[in-house]
Amino acid sequence: MNRSRRLRRTQIIRDLVRETTLTKNDLIQPFFAIEGKNKKEAISSMPGIYRYSVDALVKAVEGYIKVGGKAGLFFGIPLHKDGVASEAYATDGILQKAIKAIKKNFPEFIVITDVCLCSYTDHGHCGVIVKKEVDNDKTLPLLGKAAVSHAQAGADIVAPSDMMDLRVRQIRNDLDKNNFENVAVMAYSVKYASAFYGPFREAAHSKPGFGDRKSYQMDPANTREALKEARQDVLEGADMVMVKPALAYLDIIANLKWHLDVPIVAYNVSGEYSMVKAAALKDWIDEKDVVLESLISMKRAGADLVISYSSQDALRWMNDE
Ligand code: PBG
Repeated sequence: MNRSRRLRRTQIIRDLVRETTLTKNDLIQPFFAIEGKNKKEAISSMPGIYRYSVDALVKAVEGYIKVGGKAGLFFGIPLHKDGVASEAYATDGILQKAIKAIKKNFPEFIVITDVCLCSYTDHGHCGVIVKKEVDNDKTLPLLGKAAVSHAQAGADIVAPSDMMDLRVRQIRNDLDKNNFENVAVMAYSVKYASAFYGPFREAAHSKPGFGDRKSYQMDPANTREALKEARQDVLEGADMVMVKPALAYLDIIANLKWHLDVPIVAYNVSGEYSMVKAAALKDWIDEKDVVLESLISMKRAGADLVISYSSQDALRWMNDE
């Protein structure tokens, strides 16, 4: 008779038949950079995550590398914001300075940079505003400039998160024109207009000053549109595509995995992190078990890589085992 429990009897048998694994090569940790010296600012809605001045960021990245971290996703939070997001593409912008310092200290560490305008605009939208609307085509050259400035500072991979149409094409062309053909594009192709980004907007000071992001981010009810967005980005030159958020969108990750032949990235976003943290702080759940189960679920769904605020913790737990 068929009995499934035979292969569940002992840990070793279970390990032998395990279908999915989570390894150190699968994880990416986000980091936030701010101006100043020796600064480590707590983010109240994301316990355990900080904004670091560049000098402190170098130490934080060092700690992450020590537990086995291979790659980080970097965000900049500028002091100066304006209508055209000048600091997003300034040579001495906060993110550009952070990239330079990280690559100088850890040349092998993979630096991925978020390419977007929302933290840099005074209105908090991801593009330029014309007549109260986010203007797609006026935004494109600014995104291209931001990506090139990150590459000049030493970024290995640029990750556009703005959701403007045709931005991957613009960024790929601008990178190539500037001899950065080896800099890869990780496109936030399938980015839903999600309430799970709430804590991030506190962290990155990027809450829109008016309206919401529904005219550029995707409707959570749509599946086929996800495939359309991702296919389009691959055609435009994306080397990897991302689904964001992760946990409420595992079906989308699985769908893209079947249909595309590029690496699929899952972004386990701020709200997902904060909910687990809050419940763990109340002793309602076991944080380690919930995080590792969540991360393996993203891999099982089809993600090749996972961006998670819990990456450093997960690496530590994996080292302990
Ligand atoms: C910038 C950006 C956002 C996130 C990553 N890049 C926020 C947003 O679109 O509002 C969200 C990350 C998270 O919630 O962890 N556009």
